Parts: sequence; C-alpha cells; structure tokens
Amino acid sequence: MKKVLVLYYSQTGQLKNVVDSFISKLPDEEIQVDVRAIEPVQAYPFPWSFYEFAQEFPEATLVEGEKVKELEFLQNDYDLIILGYTVWFLAPSSPIVGFLKTNQAKKIFNNKPVITLIACRDMWVMAQEKMKTLLSNLDAKLIDNVALTDQGKGIYSFITTPKWLLSGSKDAFWFFPKAGILQSDIDNASRFGKRLNEALKADKEKEAKPLLRNLDAVNINGKLIASEIIGTKSFKIWAKIVKFCGKKNSIGRKIAVTFYTIFLVILVFTIVPLNILVRKTINRFQKNKLKELEKKYEEPSGR
Ligand SMILES: Cc1cc2nc3c(=O)[nH]c(=O)nc-3n(C[C@H](O)[C@H](O)[C@H](O)COP(=O)(O)O)c2cc1C
Repeated sequence: MKKVLVLYYSQTGQLKNVVDSFISKLPDEEIQVDVRAIEPVQAYPFPWSFYEFAQEFPEATLVEGEKVKELEFLQNDYDLIILGYTVWFLAPSSPIVGFLKTNQAKKIFNNKPVITLIACRDMWVMAQEKMKTLLSNLDAKLIDNVALTDQGKGIYSFITTPKWLLSGSKDAFWFFPKAGILQSDIDNASRFGKRLNEALKADKEKEAKPLLRNLDAVNINGKLIASEIIGTKSFKIWAKIVKFCGKKNSIGRKIAVTFYTIFLVILVFTIVPLNILVRKTINRFQKNKLKELEKKYEEPSGR
C-alpha cells in the first residue's frame, strides 16, 4: 500500500477545488491518500478590506510565515507529498510558509519526494524559487511542479483578481472576464492524479525524477519573468520600510501601506507598460535567451 499526503491552504476554496480535482483519480485499493488543510491560528478575512490585504505584504514578501495549528494524526512515512499553495505578494502564502517552518514539517518532509501544486493569479515563478529554498531547508526533494493560473491572464487579472479578493464577487463585468481559474482547467487537473496513480504503482516516485512530464504542468510567459525579478527586489526594500513603520493594525503601518499602494499604482500604470514596451523590443533580439529562461523556470515538470 502506497501512502500520499496532500497538504494545502486555501482561503476562498479555489485551491481546494484544484486539489480535489488533481487527486480525484489518485486513490484506490493500493493507494491511500490523506488530505489535510493547513489552518492559520487566526483566520484571514474574506473578502479582504483594503488595509487587511495590504498590511500582509511585508511578512509575506519576507517569507516570515504565519502561526498555524498543528495537524493531528499525521504519520511520518508517506511515499509522496503533494503540497498545494497559493501566492501572496510573489511568495508562497503566509500560512504555508508558517507550516513549512514548524518541527512537524521537519519530520514529515525529511527526505520525501514532493510535488508542488500552485493556484494563483499569474505570477508564481519567484514564489516557487522561495518554495525551493523552504523545501531544501527541510531536506525534501522537489520532483514536480504544477501551476494553474487565473483566466484573463496578464492585464485583465491585474484588475479581476484584486476585485474578487476585495469584494468577494468573481463575476465578469464590462469587458473583463470572470475572476479566478477556468472551471475547465480545474476539471482537467485530474490528469495529474491519474498519471501519479500509475507512477506510484510502478515505484517511480523512488527514482527522484519528474513524474508529470508532457502533461502541460506549467506554462511560463517568459515576458513576465523580468517583472517578477524586479518586483521581488523592490518588494523586499518596501517590505522592510513598511515593517519598520509599525506592526500589523498600527497607524504607522496603515500610513506606510497607503504610500506604498500609491507608489505601486503609479508603477503599474507607468513603469510596467514602459518595461513591457522596452522588453518587447529587447526580447526580439533575445528570443533564445527568453526561451532558455522559460525552460529553466518550467523545470522540473515542463510543458
Ligand atoms: C494577500 C494576497 C496576495 C496575493 N498576491 C499574489 C501574487 O503576488 N501573485 C499571484 O499570482 N497571485 C496572488 N494572489 C492570488 C492568490 O494566489 C490566489 O489566487 C487567491 O488568493 C485565491 O486563493 P485561495 O484558494 O486561497 O482562495 C494574492 C492573494 C492574496 C490574498
């Protein structure tokens, strides 16, 4: 009997739906699947108010993690771990980071093959780099990564995702599509569990090699990589400034995040389009380099 542990933190239930579909064809009489939701000690609000949302930025960016409840009845002898996570400010969400820093995680993940499963707006590449460090600190072996992103990629989801998170409504409006991941993309995630079912029966997880190749597990838009790298660097500086101005819920922090948001909005509507324009020109001459970068960050599972 093979044992698979599935861990995730999902606030609105979107990632949970992805996880459910992903593992729908995985369990049978030879494969046991234990699914556990990670829960923060203090639940996050939904929908978010502007300040509740914005003030999560420093700790998330600096990968500090949030206190989570201990998981009960966990074993240490899983053959494979599937870790579902969402992205907060270009980093793994704070409850997931919090869990990965616990002693419990140390025991469970030690030397285990891990598959990460991301469900986010559209920018997860730098978050996955941080995830690699967190997993390597636990001596876990990352063998695959799957990422599902919101419909209406790029500029549309820049509007639709925050609107959903701040209003609670995913509905389409004006010329914008619905917020969140396409239902058909969620349904099709069952192909991964089917492949894993076959792979586990053939002991493939012991080989420490990707099991989900040629299934369109990830699909990186190379043009976004530069924005993510610049964003991560600038987030780090601002995170330290905002943290210095005050703790969560303090006036200092509220003032700091207000200034930062104004800066960010100006950035999004000036520097980002300018960057895209400049990049478009540069990219014409760097097609091969861009392809190489896409390939690098699409590892280990690839397209
Ligand atoms: C505080 C916060 C910050 C977020 N930052 C990002 C981000 O940097 N990149 C991204 O692609 N999605 C981002 N998202 C969207 C989430 O990754 C995710 O798609 C959404 O929160 C729904 O996830 P759920 O299953 O937990 O409800 C953010 C969401 C929240 C709440």
